[in-house]
Amino acid sequence: MTQDVFADLGRIVVIVPTYNERENLGRIVGRTRSAVPEAHILVADDNSPDGTGDIADDLAAADDHVHVMHRAGKQGLGAAYLSGFAWSIDAGYDVIVEMDADGSHQPEQLPKLLTALREADVVLGSRWVDGGSVVNWPKHREFLSRGGNLYTRLMLGVPLHDATGGYRAFRADALRTLDLSDVESKGYCFQVDMAWRAARSGLRIVEVPIEFVERELGDSKMNQKIVTEALWRVTQWGVADKVAKSRRLIAIPGRPTNPERSS
Ligand code: GDD
Ligand code: MN
Repeated sequence: MTQDVFADLGRIVVIVPTYNERENLGRIVGRTRSAVPEAHILVADDNSPDGTGDIADDLAAADDHVHVMHRAGKQGLGAAYLSGFAWSIDAGYDVIVEMDADGSHQPEQLPKLLTALREADVVLGSRWVDGGSVVNWPKHREFLSRGGNLYTRLMLGVPLHDATGGYRAFRADALRTLDLSDVESKGYCFQVDMAWRAARSGLRIVEVPIEFVERELGDSKMNQKIVTEALWRVTQWGVADKVAKSRRLIAIPGRPTNPERSS
C-alpha cells in the first residue's frame, strides 16, 4: 500500500489496550504499521506483570509512530480506552481506532474500516453481519456473543449486529460530541456503552464485516465479572430507556410533563 491513502481523514491513531500481551504486541504493532503506514499506535498498558510495558517502550523508542501510555494497574478495558481517547483527542488526532492486541482484529482489515469511515462517524467491525465471521472461536464464546448482541438489540432497540465487538473507528469530532464523563463501564461492556451513546446521539454508525480470529498466544481476560457487569448494565439502560419512552407516550399533549413524577 502506498503512503497516506487516508490523508483525507486526517491523522489516525490506533489504540491497543494491553494486559499481559508480551507474545503478541510486537507482531500486532508490526502488522498495523505495514497495513496503514501513516497511522500512529498508542499502546495503553495496565502495568502488565509480564513486561508488556517494557516491550511497548522498546517499540516506541524504535519508531516515532508508536506511543505508550503506562497505567497504574489493571483497571479494565473501559478505563484504558477512556484515557486513550483523552490522550488522542489532546494530541490532535482526527481518527481514533480501537484494536485488540492479540491478533483477533486483523490490521489488514483496517483499510476497510477507514474506507467506511469516509461516510460515517463511527465504524464497527462486525462478526455478525453478512460476510463477517469468527475463526477458531470456542462455541461457548460465540453463543455468548450472539446472545449478548440479541439481548442488547432487544433491550436497547439499536439495530446493531455487533455492539460488543472491539474493532472500531471513530471520528474524533464525533467522539468529542459524546459526554464520556459519566461512563462507568469497566469491562467489555464499555463497547456496548459506547455504541449505545453513539446511537442515542444520532451519530452515523456503519457496520462492516470482519473476520475475527481467536488468539493463538496468551490468554483472554474475559471472566464472569465482565459478563455480569454487561448483563446488569444493559438491563438497567434498557429498563430506564423503556420507562422514559412510556412516560413520553402517556404525557398529555399540551401539558408539560413533570420529570420528577414518581409513577
Ligand atoms: N489495558 C488493559 N486493561 N487492557 C485490557 C484489559 C484491561 O483491564 N482487559 C483486556 N485488555 C486487552 C487485552 O490485552 C486485549 O488486547 C484486548 O483488551 C481484548 O482482550 P481479550 O481478553 O483478548 O478479549 P476477548 O478476545 O476475550 O474478547 C473480545 O471479544 C469481546 C466480546 O465481543 C474483544 O474483542 C472484546 O473487545 C470484545 O468486547
Ligand atoms: Mn482476544
